Order: sequence, then structure tokens, then C-alpha cells
Amino acid sequence: MACTKFLTLNNGEKMPVIGIGTWQASDEEIETAVDLALEAGYRHIDTAPVYGNEKAIGRVLKRWLDEGKVKREDLYIVTKLPPIANRPHEVEPTIRASLSDLQLDYVDMYLIHTPFTVFINEDGSFQFDAEGRVKVDKSTNHIATWAEMEKLVESGLAKSIGVSNFSKEQVARLLNNCKIRPANNQIEHHVYLQQRDLVDYCKAENVAITAYSPLGSKGIAKFNEAAGLVRELPDLMDIEEVKEIATAHGKTPAQVLLRWIIDNDLVAIPKSTNAVRLKQNLDVFDFELSAEEVEKLSAMDKNIRICDFSFFRGVEQHPEFTFKNQFTD
Ligand code: A2P
Repeated sequence: MACTKFLTLNNGEKMPVIGIGTWQASDEEIETAVDLALEAGYRHIDTAPVYGNEKAIGRVLKRWLDEGKVKREDLYIVTKLPPIANRPHEVEPTIRASLSDLQLDYVDMYLIHTPFTVFINEDGSFQFDAEGRVKVDKSTNHIATWAEMEKLVESGLAKSIGVSNFSKEQVARLLNNCKIRPANNQIEHHVYLQQRDLVDYCKAENVAITAYSPLGSKGIAKFNEAAGLVRELPDLMDIEEVKEIATAHGKTPAQVLLRWIIDNDLVAIPKSTNAVRLKQNLDVFDFELSAEEVEKLSAMDKNIRICDFSFFRGVEQHPEFTFKNQFTD
């Protein structure tokens, strides 16, 4: 079952509405998962240097392309400019490093991963202050960085460019100061964090929204634990009403959560490294949610941000960090 539904972006490019998210997966897991995903019919793969798995993904893509099992133009590959390189002069060398790891000539979408920037040491490790907080580079200039992102489209290294984790104000600032409009804002979005103001604004401005953590990103628990954070994370797939809707359609809660997102004309990138769940997450086109069910799901918003970067202590000091109100620790 291939992903047969696409969202047409503001530049005419078509993005498959379901992609595979690849955060929190080891090299070995991801090689198997991407292989299974391509077999299952996924063509949209979302990665980032921060996830540390571009080389592994590149090996799978190369195999599939060399064997003629898929055409490059049928793939939709998204990667991102990491927070350690969120500076104008780092845009081109950083995408070139990603392209080399992915073994591709171009990506379909290149996103500024976060609105903030951090410092690293020469060996690539993060710089920390005496309190153990990551050191932030407050000189971040989105407009200057965006001008370099635009050059990637002009030079053909990226078909489309966009942002991730940007607020409405940050998107608006780019829209007012660009030659090429951002085509995409990738944000956390699920029934418990609907960010309707931001989503409505982006939709009105023709900036497509990609929903990350569409299933509630249970895997984030290990990052929180490693950072010494105690967090009670909601289990979206265990919400009674979601389960009831799923039963009514003979589908799983995950499928209901994903269908609700794509019915809202958004793109979703559920992560899974499990063959059965990977297939399940793509098998969301053979049922329809009723208007009443959509309304129920849309009424669940609780403004609970699961990926609030609190595991990345220090970034809240950056002037472009906008998730402050979510910090409860
Ligand atoms: P796994 O990789 O073992 O399948 P998100 O995309 O919101 O970050 O959520 C990913 C988490 O949800 C992972 O822990 C993943 O585990 C799990 N997951 C992905 N798809 C499903 C599914 N269809 N049913 C249940 N859990 C799922």
C-alpha cells in the first residue's frame, strides 16, 4: 500500500502526506526500518543530522536506487540544518555534508531545524556552562540564514526549503523578508497539542504543516530520563475516546490519530521501527472519520507539549526560543 495522497506545496512540489520519522532509532534499527518502510510503500523519509542516522539511511537509499527498485523522483527526502549550524555561512557546507551522507544530489525539503543556535567544541561536542547548560549563540539571524537557504533552491541542492519549531511570529518575520517563501513548518502536533493559531496562520499563508510526534512520541522518555527529568507523558493511543473511534472503524488508535491529522490537510511523520506498525501507519486511507468524530478529536487539545527541549537544558536562554511557557521542571 503506497502513500497515494500528496499535499501540494506553495511552489507546486508534492509532498506525500505520510512519511516515516526516524528520530530515536539506532543505525541498525533504522537501516531495517527504512528498508521495510520502502517495501511497505513509504516514499517520504524525514531525517536530520541531529538524529545521527543519515549515513544509515543513505546506504538503504543507494541500494534501492542502484537496484532500480525506486526512482529518485519518487522519493521525498527531508533533512535539516541543525542547531549547531544555524548560521548563514554554515548552510551550504552543512547541506553538502547531509547530501554526502545520504548519497543524494539533492533533498526534497531542507528545514532550519530549530529557531535557536548552540555552540559546539572543535570535536563536535556541545559547549556547556558551569551549571551544565548548553551554551547558546544569541547572534542567530533567521533572515540572513534564510537568504542562504534560498540559494540552495537556486543551486538545486534542495527542491523546497522550510523551517521547524518556528512560532507564528518567526514564520511571519521570514514571510516578510524573503524571496522564496518557506514551504513547510514542521512542528509538534497531535490531539493534545494542536497549536491551532500557528496551524491556521501557516495554512492561510500557504506554508504546509508537518506534524511530528503525531502519536505522542513515547520514545522521548529516554531523553528525559537521561537529562534527569521526571515527566508523566500522556499515552495518546490509550485515550478512551480515541480507542472507541478506532474500534468503530476496525482500525487502531494510531491510525485514527494519523487520519485525523491528514484530514486536516497536514502531513504526518510517525516514527516506527516495527514492521507491523510501519505498515499500519500507512494504512490509513481506507476509512473515513465522521464529522462528529473529527470534532471529538479536535476538542481534545490540552496544550501538552511533549518535545519541549527540556532535555536540552540551556536552550531556553536563547532569544528565539519560544517554548518557555512549557517548562514545568
Ligand atoms: P515503535 O518504533 O516500536 O513502533 P511518534 O511518531 O509520535 O514519535 O511516536 C513514535 C512512538 O510510537 C514510538 O515509540 C513507536 O514505537 C510507537 N509507534 C509507532 N507506530 C505505532 C503504532 N501504530 N501503534 C503503537 N505504537 C506505535
